Amino acid sequence: MIGCLTRELFPESEDRGPGSDVDPAIRAEGRDWPSEAETMIGRLRMENLAESLATVLDDGVPGDLCETGVWRGGATILMRAALEAWGDAERRVWVADSFRGLPAPDAERWPADEGVDLSGVDALAVSRSEVEAAFARYGLLDGRVRFLEGWFCDTLPTAPIEQLALLRLDGDLYQSTWEALENLYPKLAPGGILIVDDYGAFEPCRRAVTDYREAHGVIEPIHEVDWTGVWWRRER
Ligand SMILES: C[S@@+](CC[C@H](N)C(=O)[O-])C[C@H]1O[C@@H](n2cnc3c(N)ncnc32)[C@H](O)[C@@H]1O
Repeated sequence: MIGCLTRELFPESEDRGPGSDVDPAIRAEGRDWPSEAETMIGRLRMENLAESLATVLDDGVPGDLCETGVWRGGATILMRAALEAWGDAERRVWVADSFRGLPAPDAERWPADEGVDLSGVDALAVSRSEVEAAFARYGLLDGRVRFLEGWFCDTLPTAPIEQLALLRLDGDLYQSTWEALENLYPKLAPGGILIVDDYGAFEPCRRAVTDYREAHGVIEPIHEVDWTGVWWRRER
């Protein structure tokens, strides 16, 4: 089921009609912004997410699942689908986003974000109702899908999340990555998996991860997924 859904959420054939200029290799690596797919993360990072979900669910790592920075919601839809496939009746999926795109960079507070202004990019602003509709299309919108709507600095510090088995970060900026780590990494259970989508693609994101690891003595080895995605497993 998960394999089929991965392909449905991220159809590599999308737009490949006559005259289409979609390059399947670029699409598979998640280097473009698809016009219709529910996620932009590409096949390799979708497979990594599916494998990570299987690992934490098979191993019974306690806690919910969360993505910070969801765009059209595809990765979180896969999380909810995994709970269905594993017959899990308890865990929740936390869907954290402004649902209006990225914040403008605040270079005074977050110098690493200077010059990285994606706040005016309409393609990155997907409304909550669009994401809810996407969940509903797959029959996966229910009370176990919890929306944290707003800027991470406002929603994450008070999010009623007790524990996480899997945390996926996809907010691009230093600020967005740092705020997600600072507020949610302490809730990641031993054996839980942390995935960072933008580690290779965005220097500010990579720096936030490095700074956080250094500040908090995180020494678990970082594993590469593809040209940008990385993950590590919190040790017991
Ligand atoms: C690259 S997209 C996420 C792609 C998505 N994970 C997928 O599967 O296609 C980045 C998302 O992060 C959100 N975002 C970035 N920084 C944020 C912040 N500080 N607060 C709230 N949302 C933020 C944007 O609204 C956008 O939806």
